[in-house]
This record gives sequence, C-alpha cells and structure tokens, in this order.
Amino acid sequence: MRIMLLGPPGAGKGTQGKKLVEKYGIPWIATGDILREAVSKGTKLGVEAKSYMDKGELVPDSLVEGIIKSRLEEDDCKNGFILDGFPRNLAQSQSLDDYLEARGEKLDAVINIRVEDDVLVQRVSGRLVCPKCGRNYHLVTSPPNRDGVCECGGKLFSRDDDNPGTVRARLEVYSSETAPLIDYYKEKKILHEVDGTGGPEEVFKRICGIIDSLPLEGAGG
Ligand code: AP5
Repeated sequence: MRIMLLGPPGAGKGTQGKKLVEKYGIPWIATGDILREAVSKGTKLGVEAKSYMDKGELVPDSLVEGIIKSRLEEDDCKNGFILDGFPRNLAQSQSLDDYLEARGEKLDAVINIRVEDDVLVQRVSGRLVCPKCGRNYHLVTSPPNRDGVCECGGKLFSRDDDNPGTVRARLEVYSSETAPLIDYYKEKKILHEVDGTGGPEEVFKRICGIIDSLPLEGAGG
C-alpha cells in the first residue's frame, strides 16, 4: 500500500509515521528527515537545502524530487511506503503521480491530519528530538525521564526551524503551498481526513481504522 501523510508542521506526521512502520512493515519516508541528515553531514544537498529550511521555505522541487525518486527505487519500497512531507505543493504532486503512473502504480490513500494552529505552535515549540534514535519528546506533554537525555542515551536538541519566527513562516508556507493538495486529492477520491487532536495513541487508532478499511490485500497488517 502506498500512503501519504498530509498535515501542517506539528500535526504529528512523523510521530504517526514511525508507529505505522511498526504495524504495517513498510518504510516511512520523511523528506524533512532526509534533508536534515544531509544538512548535518554537510553534503552539497544539505548546504543548499539549509538556507531554505532555516527560513521555513520549501527547498526547490528539483532537489527534493530527485531524492524521493531514488528512495522509491529501493527494494524495501516494493510492497509500498508511507510518505511524510512529500509532496508539498501541486508541482510535486503532479510529478509523483507521473512517476508512479510510469511504474504502473498510484497512491492508495492520503491521510490529512487536522490540528488547530494554536495547538500546532505549542507542539512544535516544545519539541525535542533525539539525534541517535529519532525519537520525539515534548518539554511539557511528553518530557524525557532525564532532562535533555533520550532513553537511548542520545542528547536531545531543538530543531533549528522550531523557533517562533520560522514556525510562523512554515505555517504560512503550508497554507499557501501545501493546503491546496487537500482539494487535489479530494478530487482523486483518495483523501481521508483525521482528527489529529488527542494523544498519539488515539490518533494512531483513527489512522489505522482508515488504513484497515482500504480495499487492499494485506492492509490489515
Ligand atoms: P518537515 O521535517 O517535513 O517538517 P514539517 O512538515 O513542518 O513537520 P514537522 O516535522 O514539524 O511536524 P510533524 O507533523 O512531523 O509532527 P511531529 O510528529 O514531529 O520539513 C522541514 C523542512 O524541510 C520544511 O520546512 C522544508 O524547508 C523542507 N522540506 C521538507 N519536505 C519538503 C518538500 N517535499 N519540498 C520542499 N521542501 C521540503 O510532532 C510534533 C511535536 O508534537 C512533537 O514534539 C511530538 O511529540 C508532538 N506530538 C505529535 N503528536 C501529538 C499528539 N497527538 N498529541 C500531543 N503531542 C503530539
């Protein structure tokens, strides 16, 4: 099955993506994570992407599309994948559709995780990330047992783009560039809306309910 998680910054795409991998055994592909890894390694892609990411802007389509297409060629994507953070504008959606069509494939479902802006800002501004295992914490709602330290021993950090000014810019970019995808996928009749409020487990159950009701072989797990 080929699933895409849609939603604004802080909606819980990454949190849910990691849980879906465990349940359904297909890879979760997050463009934000791939780009951040490139930034931390100082690759050519990372250096170019950083200037956009620091401002909360989208990295140019030509860079992101190349990364995604080569990732989708990998063996573990044969039985499907969960996309998080891609596509992010209409040009990327069209490019993904064309690419999948050429392989005789298509997206099965787009799950739009809906959360009000004030909750998004609270979630993102308190986020702490582990660089070792990728686990997310929140200063208030899910703090680590030991201050600043992940259960795996990693030293937690705040993402550079989680400062209030950049979060505002990311929300604006989401409304102008990404939100139009809601109608795009609605017209294709593959859009499923999910209430992203409540705890991560509650949201996870809602998403699994949708996935398990898709007319797919093996979607039940
Ligand atoms: P990206 O990394 O994709 O960031 P984003 O879309 O802004 O999403 P976030 O990672 O902030 O949020 P999320 O929805 O994953 O929430 P999470 O689960 O972490 O992109 C970053 C940048 O990369 C972009 O700005 C752009 O520059 C570039 N980029 C990426 N893709 C691109 C593309 N396709 N084209 C061009 N540029 C691209 O949760 C957030 C917090 O909330 C955590 O602390 C978590 O613990 C907490 N939380 C989650 N769920 C719940 C819940 N149910 N209840 C309470 N707390 C919760």
